[in-house]
Amino acid sequence: MAKIPSEENGILHPETQLPEDDRDVSLRPKSLSEFLGQKAMKENLSVFISAAKNRSESLDHLFLIGPPGLGKTTLAQVVANELGADFKVTSAPALDKPKDLAGILTTVTEKTVFFIDEIHRLKPTIEEMLYIAMEDYELDWIIGQGPSARTIRIPIPPFTLVGATTKAGNVSSPLVSRFGISCRFSFYEPEDMEAIVRRSAGILKVTVDNDAAALLASSARGTPRVVNRLLRRMRDFAEVFGSGHITKKVVAEGLERLEIDALGLEKHDREILRIIIERYNGGPVGAETLAISVGEAVETLEDYYEPYLIQAGLIQRTPRGRVVTALAYDHLKLAKGRNENSGLLF
Ligand SMILES: Nc1ncnc2c1ncn2[C@@H]1O[C@H](COP(=O)(O)OP(=O)(O)O)[C@@H](O)[C@H]1O
Ligand SMILES: [Mg+2]
Repeated sequence: MAKIPSEENGILHPETQLPEDDRDVSLRPKSLSEFLGQKAMKENLSVFISAAKNRSESLDHLFLIGPPGLGKTTLAQVVANELGADFKVTSAPALDKPKDLAGILTTVTEKTVFFIDEIHRLKPTIEEMLYIAMEDYELDWIIGQGPSARTIRIPIPPFTLVGATTKAGNVSSPLVSRFGISCRFSFYEPEDMEAIVRRSAGILKVTVDNDAAALLASSARGTPRVVNRLLRRMRDFAEVFGSGHITKKVVAEGLERLEIDALGLEKHDREILRIIIERYNGGPVGAETLAISVGEAVETLEDYYEPYLIQAGLIQRTPRGRVVTALAYDHLKLAKGRNENSGLLF
């Protein structure tokens, strides 16, 4: 497992679990109408939910794919609310033994929404059990031991499995094929991010100017979990240093204090870019070499730092290694080729 960035450089990393995220519950949308953005996905889902309700059937099994912090867990709960159904939640690592899954499946009632997070991490034996549950609404259970052992099949009421993953490529194809509906999340558009800021501000009872909301939205990597964190920090700054009202000035100063820049980069992100530029002349540099230079495990570099740097167009992965783009030079205000002469020493 890759090491997760520490709290001090983890605000912008939605995969980190910060203590304040637990207080996020009130910010979680409860209905589809409160769930902002992801328009196309939401519209389709709303049709499928209405159709299932009209037929008084359970909704098809639902597969949610997307990076952390974009709303997969939230959407699963929203679907249960919209269906007026029970909601049960677990994650693949918690399903260690067959009895862990059986324990939940034997308590589902008709139309229950059963949410399994990180579904790419299911063990093969658990996955086999899940296939039968999803397809036949039955549970294979072995009773007794040794030669007298036998399997009984226990019926389960029709339920909806919602599986979420950040790594769709790691989910086995037999499992994928058992989901009737797939929803792929994309990073939120700036106007959706602003709408999320305004909604969250309303719930947190803090006022935010429009230009302040826009600046917050653009620094939050298209990720609702991140923008909510930043909003809380800005509320703190506004309360301590000002009148409590969040202006653009409060946000600009607050982001500077947190060392977050206009592209949504933190200090360590900039350090990575700087090292590629200053030590490796902009690249290409291999991932292992780069990881040692920046003091991270190679998995941490690849899983936690690079995705956003690539998405923001600051670095590229090439067959020979990582290369920074012209945008990275501009952003760090560094001139290209500044180390060109260092080779003359040898
Ligand atoms: N569409 C949305 N509209 C408003 N807020 C959202 C939306 N999606 C997510 N959020 C906020 O972001 C937080 C993180 O979402 P979550 O469902 O936990 O993400 P994931 O499960 O994909 O990691 C939620 O607590 C919620 O406050
Ligand atoms: Mg989640």
